Order: sequence, then C-alpha cells, then structure tokens
Amino acid sequence: MATRVLFVCLGNICRSPTAEAVFRQMAADSGLAVEVDSAGTGAWHVGEPADARMRRAAKQRGYDLTSQARQVDRDDFSAFDLVIAMDQSNLTELERQCPPELRKRLSLMRDRDEAGSPEDVPDPYYGGPRGFEEVLDIVERCSRQLVTELRESR
Ligand code: 4NP
Repeated sequence: MATRVLFVCLGNICRSPTAEAVFRQMAADSGLAVEVDSAGTGAWHVGEPADARMRRAAKQRGYDLTSQARQVDRDDFSAFDLVIAMDQSNLTELERQCPPELRKRLSLMRDRDEAGSPEDVPDPYYGGPRGFEEVLDIVERCSRQLVTELRESR
C-alpha cells in the first residue's frame, strides 16, 4: 500500500509545495509507492499557486510545482501516515491541532538532514533569490533520505 505523506509549512506556497514535488519525483524514480500532498498552517494564500520565484527556481532543477495552496485540517492527521513540518513553529502548530493518539505521525523535515544542525527549512518568502536555492538544497537532501527511510521500512 502507498505511504501517504503530507508536507506542511506556513503559507503552502514556497517550502511545502517544493517538498511535495521533489519527494514525489524521487519516490517515483525509485519505484516507491507514495501519495503526496502539502498544506499550510495559515490561510492567507489558500487557492493560490506556488510562489512564482519558488516555481522558477524549482523548474530550473526539473521540478514542476503544480499545487494550489490549502490549509491543514483535522482530517489530515488520520488521512496521512507522515505529516512533516518544515520548521519548528509549523510543528508546534501541528502538535496543537493533532489528536494526541496521532502525534507520532508528526516530524520535522530536517530530522532527515545529514548536513544540517539547524532544525528549520528557512522561510524564503521575505528574502532574496538565494533563499529559494537553499530551500531546494535542503529539500533535496531530506527527500532523498526520506525515500531511503521508507524503502528500509518495507
Ligand atoms: P511558505 O512561505 O510557508 O514556505 O509557503 C511563506 C509564504 C507566505 C508567507 C509566509 C511564509 N506569508 O506571510 O504570507
């Protein structure tokens, strides 16, 4: 059965749509059955496509960001096997909303980062172009590790 994975950030227009596309691509390349989605803890951008700067940077590495922003809802905690937060504040908000018996499904993206001591995928929204490349670098490393993790658990 496919493992269902939900990536969560604040706006669902930069980091989590990127994780959704990158992880979906890497899982497909390695023949891993997954269902992947993304969502935001905030509602400001609901219905919007991913940020144009993020889409452009992702496209240059061969990833198409096609998601439309949506907000996390209570059913997500039972619908997804893994709910992966991009930063500590996203995780804190998910812990607040998640029924206690499902909290073990929550984790931080950078728990999978071999190169990372900082625990957050930094929010690129108010920064310059380098921020979007950094998101892609981190998300690629963590997604590769997540594929390995899921393959080993089969
Ligand atoms: P994301 O980035 O959480 O990676 O989608 C953000 C997008 C929008 C805002 C903040 C972060 N905002 O404040 O509108």
